[in-house]
Amino acid sequence: MLADIYHRELRDLRISVTDRCNFRCTYCMPFDEYVWIDREELLSFEEITRLTRLFVQLGVRKVRLTGGEPLLRSQLESLITQLCEVPELSDICLTTNASRLVEKAAPLRAAGLSRINISLDTLDADKFKRMTKREDLPKVLNGIFAAKASGFEPIKINMVVERGINDEEIISMVEFCREHEFSLRFIEYMDVGNANAWSSSKIVSKKEILERIHAVYPTEDGDREKISDPAIQFAFSDRRGDIGFIASVTEPFCTNCTRARLTADGKLVTCLFSNDGLDLKTLLRGGATDDALTEVITSVWSKRSDRYSDERLEAMNSSEGYNPRRQKKIEMITLGG
Ligand code: GTP
Ligand code: 5AD
Ligand code: SF4
Ligand code: SF4
Repeated sequence: MLADIYHRELRDLRISVTDRCNFRCTYCMPFDEYVWIDREELLSFEEITRLTRLFVQLGVRKVRLTGGEPLLRSQLESLITQLCEVPELSDICLTTNASRLVEKAAPLRAAGLSRINISLDTLDADKFKRMTKREDLPKVLNGIFAAKASGFEPIKINMVVERGINDEEIISMVEFCREHEFSLRFIEYMDVGNANAWSSSKIVSKKEILERIHAVYPTEDGDREKISDPAIQFAFSDRRGDIGFIASVTEPFCTNCTRARLTADGKLVTCLFSNDGLDLKTLLRGGATDDALTEVITSVWSKRSDRYSDERLEAMNSSEGYNPRRQKKIEMITLGG
């Protein structure tokens, strides 16, 4: 089994299919100087499937399609159909902002998509506009219900919590998700990319969110479903649903990180906070054989030493403190979260 220098296996592949997005979430979008990926630089569905097959042969069992907004890539369902043919790939998932799910949920389900995670930070139309710079909340809500009606289960809702922006909505989001049987996950605000105006004072920690919820809706002891999962799950004591926490700032999970990332233009990246990746597309288009590609992927993963969030916490707890601009990072829309 392929493992990195800390004995972490390669198990998950997050594939960004486009860096474009129809939203402009303030915590994610880069500054204006960001250079968008050219159309012809995007990996084709055949190229993505070929690479996925090689990753699966090296141990990957779960693929997550992301963006940008992955549903802006036309005919995404035909990629899913192709990925379904990769032997031993057991889980094909999608992370989306839901704005196109009214049209896409049923075809995605028919194509064989296993699960959907949806980004939604607020149920308030004004706040939605402030956070995404768009007025699409009704479309998003309809999209979420279309996914449910198409039979997706579980549907996970990802809420990034930013102090002073949407933290007053924690309880209303809990109530909404309990009512409709969605699995809500709270994400600590991270310093992804280079442009978001992150500061540690804007983070609402897992501990604080949990305390606020527990005071209203008691929860039981939490744990990860799988040791490599980013989320720690808690059940409500009344058995009506559960909540999860992706606490990568205050309780990082690098020790068990089994995730590789593939950018829309074919770079292999080994950490969400990396400043560069290895250009598989050029090798692919230059005629590299499967063996040669496998050798390159093996070499990158076996040398991997990333533990950015662990290091961030160590720096935050040290006398020097943490400087989010200490290294340039690949943007979240390029990497797919
Ligand atoms: P499940 O398969 O449902 O467990 O999905 P997931 O949580 O792996 O994926 P999703 O796209 O829903 O990600 C939720 C949040 O976790 C996003 O904000 C991601 O950026 C973050 N996340 C996922 N993987 C990592 C990781 O390896 N490191 C860090 N720091 N954050 C991650
Ligand atoms: N901090 C935490 N999560 C973020 N996401 C995007 N930017 C950030 C950030 N700065 C989340 C999105 C989506 C997932 C892929 O990443 O909300 O749910
Ligand atoms: Fe788009 Fe998701 Fe980034 Fe928001 S967080 S701008 S929806 S990619
Ligand atoms: Fe993995 Fe990097 Fe996230 Fe740590 S910070 S969990 S190494 S992707």
